[in-house]
Amino acid sequence: MPFIALVTTRFARLVHHRFESVQASFSRLTEQIRESLSGIRVVKAFAQEEYEKGKLDHIGEEYVGENLRLIKVWGMFFPLIMLLANLGTVIVLWLGGMETILGTITAGGFVAFMTYLGILAWPMMALGWVINLIQRGSASMGRINKILNTQPEIADRPRLRPITKLEGKIEFRDLTFSYKPGSLPALKGITVQVNPGEFVAIVGRTGTGKSTLCNLIPRLFDPPNGHLFMDGREIHAIPIKPLRESIGYVPQDTFLFSTTIRENIVFRNPKASEEEVVNAARIAQIDEEIRTFPMGIETLIGEKGITLSGGQKQRIAIARAILLNPQIMILDDALSSVDTQTEERIWNGLGEILGGKTRIVVSHRLSSIKEADKIIVLDDGEIMEMGDHQRLLSMGGVYAKIYRRQQIEEELDRENRRVSLHAR
Ligand SMILES: Nc1ncnc2c1ncn2[C@@H]1O[C@H](COP(=O)(O)OP(=O)(O)OP(=O)(O)O)[C@@H](O)[C@H]1O
Ligand SMILES: [Mg+2]
Repeated sequence: MPFIALVTTRFARLVHHRFESVQASFSRLTEQIRESLSGIRVVKAFAQEEYEKGKLDHIGEEYVGENLRLIKVWGMFFPLIMLLANLGTVIVLWLGGMETILGTITAGGFVAFMTYLGILAWPMMALGWVINLIQRGSASMGRINKILNTQPEIADRPRLRPITKLEGKIEFRDLTFSYKPGSLPALKGITVQVNPGEFVAIVGRTGTGKSTLCNLIPRLFDPPNGHLFMDGREIHAIPIKPLRESIGYVPQDTFLFSTTIRENIVFRNPKASEEEVVNAARIAQIDEEIRTFPMGIETLIGEKGITLSGGQKQRIAIARAILLNPQIMILDDALSSVDTQTEERIWNGLGEILGGKTRIVVSHRLSSIKEADKIIVLDDGEIMEMGDHQRLLSMGGVYAKIYRRQQIEEELDRENRRVSLHAR
């Protein structure tokens, strides 16, 4: 019996270990399948089916291998326990038989002992089986708990003075920010003051830190201590919930949930009235299109419903932010897939409802941000030029150059359209 206990505990440890490897391998397998399926159009467009299949084969084989390693232990367990149990019987038979013949114990006592031993063997084996099952379970539980017990890196400090709403003043004071400690900073020495109700635009080449700057305001990434102030308070002294509730954020990569269009728009404001939802959709210039969908605003998006174009997605994301009626609105290149005329209409609508609200807008199309109170030209994480449209034009720097180029492009575009209309 002690041998059986010893074997069971040793095997339990082995099973735990190997089952963890099996689960890890299974997770790699499902992740690979999920990725190849969600990227199926890219895979096909680049004719990479065979390559993806090869990758899947490889991971599949690994999974089979891990399972075999587990089964080898698992398969050996019962025969070994049986062997030990029966070895016990042999020893008892041998020793007990001798004792019975010698008359040290009675035949009745011997038979009783044998029977008890027989009764005990099965529960011991069953216990071993259960212990192994528990080990598999605990291996899985360990993996789940690793995720459930993760503490968010960005969390409220204890005992913060509560606030209900922000006014919309944002101040960067000599802010330098790196995504990882020791890596090159994505923003360097940023000093900007945005007053409540101001319209501030950020422009600059790709990869120069525009989105980074936007992400720091709702603390999606944590700014360094003492360099970012909201309403005059250090940002870490403001509870995260009201901070984020005061901000309407339309990220560069639009994300919509696989549910109805309405659910996507009322996402953070489920009590919104029908009228408010329709109005938000109207300002985002998506209401007419929504009406043409099979179920109107109740149409499902995604696999089970319709697939939206990039511009439609962007406008639904904007309607979601409009419905919030936030004190601060951040639009990170949120109209990049919308044509110029529609964009202009959206800006006009936004201008009406966002009067008095702080607006931070990233855009590559300078014509849409000409009216901004302040335009920040970023380059390589640093502010190169700052001022309103007129001032930047008269400076004759980067902004002026890009603006002139875009104007010529727009004019050519208009001319082309005129000519093609004429030809028709
Ligand atoms: N989550 C992240 N982790 C690490 N580095 C990042 C992360 N996001 C951005 N970066 C880096 O920070 C720099 C600035 O990126 P950012 O997204 O702010 O540029 P951007 O100006 O918004 O560009 P674009 O016009 O293409 O949107 C880039 O060098 C980028 O590689
Ligand atoms: Mg960006």
